Amino acid sequence: LMGSIPNTFVNLTKITTLSLYDNQLSGHVPRALGFLVNFELLLLQKNQLTGSIPDTFGNLNKLTTLYLFRNQLSGYVPKELGSLVSLEDLQLYKNKLLGSIPNTFGNLTKLTTLYLYDNQLSGHVPRELGCLVNLEDLELHRNKLFGSIPNALGNLTKLTTLNLGGNQLMGCIPNTFGNMTKLNTLFLDDNQFSGHVPQEIGTLMDLKYIQFDGNNLSGPLPPSLCVGGMLKTLIAFDNNLNGPLPSSLINCRSLVRVRLERNQIEGDISKMGIYPNLVYMDMRSNNLFGQLSFLWGDCHNLQMLRISNNNLTGEIPASMGQLSQLGLLDLSSNKLEGEIPSALGNLKKLFNLSLADNLLHGSIPQEIGALSSLELLDLSSNNLNGLVQYSIEHCLKLRLLKLNHNNFIGNIHAELGSLRNLYELDLSDNSFIGAIPSQLSGLSMLENLNLSHNELNGSIPSSFQSMESLTSIDVSYNELEGPVPNSKLFQQAPNQRFMHNKMLCGVVNGLPPCNSVTQSRGKWKGYKILVLAPVLALICLILIVMILMFWRERKKTKETNNDKVTQEKVFSIWSFDGANVFKQIVEATNHFSEMHCIGTGGYGSVYKAILATGEIFAVKKIHMIEDECCMNKQLFNREVEALVQIRHRNIVQLLGYCSSSQGRFLIYEYMERGDLAKMLKDNERAIELDWRRRICIVLDVVHALAYMHHDCSSTIVHRDITSNNILLDQEFRACISDFGTAKILNIYGQNLTRLAGTKGYLAPELAYTENVTEKCDVYSFGVLVLELFMGSHPGDLLSSLSLTTKNNFVCMKDLLDSRLALPDAESAIEIYCMLSVAVRCLEPLPSRRPTARRASDELSTIKACEDRADYLHAGITFPV
Ligand SMILES: *[C@@H]1O[C@H](CO)[C@@H](O)[C@H](O)[C@H]1NC(C)=O
Ligand SMILES: *[C@@H]1O[C@H](CO)[C@@H](O)[C@H](O)[C@H]1NC(C)=O
Ligand SMILES: *[C@@H]1O[C@H](CO)[C@@H](O)[C@H](O)[C@H]1NC(C)=O
Ligand SMILES: *[C@@H]1O[C@H](CO)[C@@H](O)[C@H](O)[C@H]1NC(C)=O
Ligand SMILES: *[C@@H]1O[C@H](CO)[C@@H](O)[C@H](O)[C@H]1NC(C)=O
Ligand SMILES: *[C@@H]1O[C@H](CO)[C@@H](O)[C@H](O)[C@H]1NC(C)=O
Ligand SMILES: *[C@@H]1O[C@H](CO)[C@@H](O)[C@H](O)[C@H]1NC(C)=O
Repeated sequence: LMGSIPNTFVNLTKITTLSLYDNQLSGHVPRALGFLVNFELLLLQKNQLTGSIPDTFGNLNKLTTLYLFRNQLSGYVPKELGSLVSLEDLQLYKNKLLGSIPNTFGNLTKLTTLYLYDNQLSGHVPRELGCLVNLEDLELHRNKLFGSIPNALGNLTKLTTLNLGGNQLMGCIPNTFGNMTKLNTLFLDDNQFSGHVPQEIGTLMDLKYIQFDGNNLSGPLPPSLCVGGMLKTLIAFDNNLNGPLPSSLINCRSLVRVRLERNQIEGDISKMGIYPNLVYMDMRSNNLFGQLSFLWGDCHNLQMLRISNNNLTGEIPASMGQLSQLGLLDLSSNKLEGEIPSALGNLKKLFNLSLADNLLHGSIPQEIGALSSLELLDLSSNNLNGLVQYSIEHCLKLRLLKLNHNNFIGNIHAELGSLRNLYELDLSDNSFIGAIPSQLSGLSMLENLNLSHNELNGSIPSSFQSMESLTSIDVSYNELEGPVPNSKLFQQAPNQRFMHNKMLCGVVNGLPPCNSVTQSRGKWKGYKILVLAPVLALICLILIVMILMFWRERKKTKETNNDKVTQEKVFSIWSFDGANVFKQIVEATNHFSEMHCIGTGGYGSVYKAILATGEIFAVKKIHMIEDECCMNKQLFNREVEALVQIRHRNIVQLLGYCSSSQGRFLIYEYMERGDLAKMLKDNERAIELDWRRRICIVLDVVHALAYMHHDCSSTIVHRDITSNNILLDQEFRACISDFGTAKILNIYGQNLTRLAGTKGYLAPELAYTENVTEKCDVYSFGVLVLELFMGSHPGDLLSSLSLTTKNNFVCMKDLLDSRLALPDAESAIEIYCMLSVAVRCLEPLPSRRPTARRASDELSTIKACEDRADYLHAGITFPV
């Protein structure tokens, strides 16, 4: 089904169930539904309903189930819902609901299920929820709730699921949670909780799923966490947990998923490993110690085990070879000893094996070659030795192979060249000898190759020239000689990656050209020092000189800047001691530092300057390319002077102008509440702008427009009327800023194309003419009025209307900003009349738009519009 829910449903007075879920219904939920007091089930979920939840729903006192989830509902959750005394199941999740959870919900004592997750709810979790003693399932996750959890939630003794994750909650986890004895799911992840996890949580026998990750919890986890023997999921990574590993975890056979990484948990893991159901365990970056028990071999479902970056000792148990599901094993950065067990070769699903940074010795077991799924193998930084057997090259899926920093000996096998998927090969810091096999050039995916710190001799194979994927090669500290291949990679490579070899020559920067090398063979060592030392010294010298020059230059400009501020007296702040005021402004803004910047726009940056006297100014620093020749100073001064003399209650007063070496500045009166655009975007501030205030703002703006267009000696067109340019003072008086700025800048020879208005407010005729008239301002004003009452820019509405030619009729109620309650009858009349004038300002033909004077007159005498019954449902006709 499509379309909106008909208002005529109001006649279905006997109906008890309305089930319209899983359709494509749109539009608002009719308020009238709230009068069908026999409803017991109201199921409107999974549609595209918009607008807010009608407060009339508070009448439905027989309702047991209200499902509105998975719609596009916005606005507040009406407090009237607290009157639904029969309600058992309330699900409003996945909408765009705002505001706080009404504390009247404390009256819904029959409620067993409350789902408000995935909205934009803010505010505290109301204490009153603690009265919902029948509640079994409370899910408030992924909202913007803040404050601490009320202790009273502990009264919810029937609760089985509590999910508060993904909010901004803080403070401690209440120990009253220990009273929620039926709890099996407790999710508090991604908040800002601190303090200890209360021991009482360890007494909850039914706990199955715990999630605390992404908080700032400290102290130990409760030792008896798994005392009920039901715990499946324990997720607490990224906290500051310390203290011992919970003792009950050692034998917690129910565990499926454990993530404790990045804490400071201390504990002996020697007895761990009896987890027949365990799938995923990550305990990296803690302070765990002890040995890996042979018991791990019985975790038959284990797919991932990470205990890297701890303090494990002892050997890797051979029983781990039985973990037939294991895909990732990371035991790196511990103190493991002994050899790599050959049984690991049984791990047919293993794709990532990292044993790096341990104390392992011996050679790589032949069986490793049987790891047919292996993609990443990191055995670096151990004491491994011996020959690298003909085996690794059977792991054809290998993408990364790191054997660096061991004691491997012998040749590099040409067969490594068959690992076509390798992108990283690091064999550095071993004792490999002999030549670099030319077959390595067959590694067509290879990006990083490090062969440094070995005993390789011969030359770099010329076939390396064709390795197109290679981005980094390091062959330093070997005994290589001869020409380096000639390719882009080598031409651009840093020369330290080729240093300390026997005699490399060729295209690498800093290496000698190949013919000269053959002559000066024996002198190479001396040659290196003789050539490189002066080159390096020269580079250093140049750098030092450059740094010194830079410093001097900076110091100089700083000094002259300071001088100029006081010397170059181009200040002209009328009715003030200009120079002095400007000096104070410079001080107050700390030389126009970023910190004092309150906005930037097309014309420049705006700073807030609070003088020692307590006076506040807005100072606009104009971005402009200095071009004195194009500027008629006299004309400019006259223009500024004219603007300074303009005084209107609704135009931001220009107080003066100054020019200094730091730039050119216009000084304005300061408007406390900033611009209208920001105010409308911010949900909380937008609510402060109630209908009355918005009506006044329209009047303020139209008065200013009429004055500038009709009452000045010559018409002044603003060119850029937008909500960004309407500023409000403490009393919500609206003023237009930047009147006349376009004109001043014009004299400055500025290219005005970038000042010719803002997209979305531009009159349509500007598409074909550059003639900016006052009717362009009138058009922008029309857009502004719509924006003000709709709460957001009407761009989408206007473009959707321009597509249809007939249906240009919109019900006023559907236009109004849904964050505010509907206006009362009197305001509704005024808003209706204002919108009617606004749409006439949007006439495509400039001549059909009213003048600002006329609009001003009509808007000021609105009372004459006389009342028609229902303005909220009256239509507004847009011009085509
Ligand atoms: C509902 O709750 C509010 C605030 O908690 C309370 O003032 C009001 O009396 C309650 N109403 C009913 C019907 O219980
Ligand atoms: C709830 O928990 C608190 C603190 O743990 C305790 O003092 C209180 O007696 C408990 N209430 C009930 C009803 O068990
Ligand atoms: C985390 O908690 C510790 C005390 O336990 C505190 O010092 C620290 O500032 C907190 N960090 C954050 C980011 O809240
Ligand atoms: C690791 O263990 C050794 C000795 O067993 C101890 O000296 C060291 O402090 C431990 N390191 C950490 C980070 O726990
Ligand atoms: C493989 O494991 C290492 C070590 O835990 C890790 O850094 C890396 O991201 C893993 N790679 C993949 C692709 O899982
Ligand atoms: C190559 O390996 C050596 C030693 O392991 C290391 O010092 C060097 O930084 C590595 N080179 C590159 C380019 O990573
Ligand atoms: C490289 O070294 C090996 C032994 O270390 C030697 O047999 C071989 O002749 C050397 N090759 C060259 C080109 O010097």
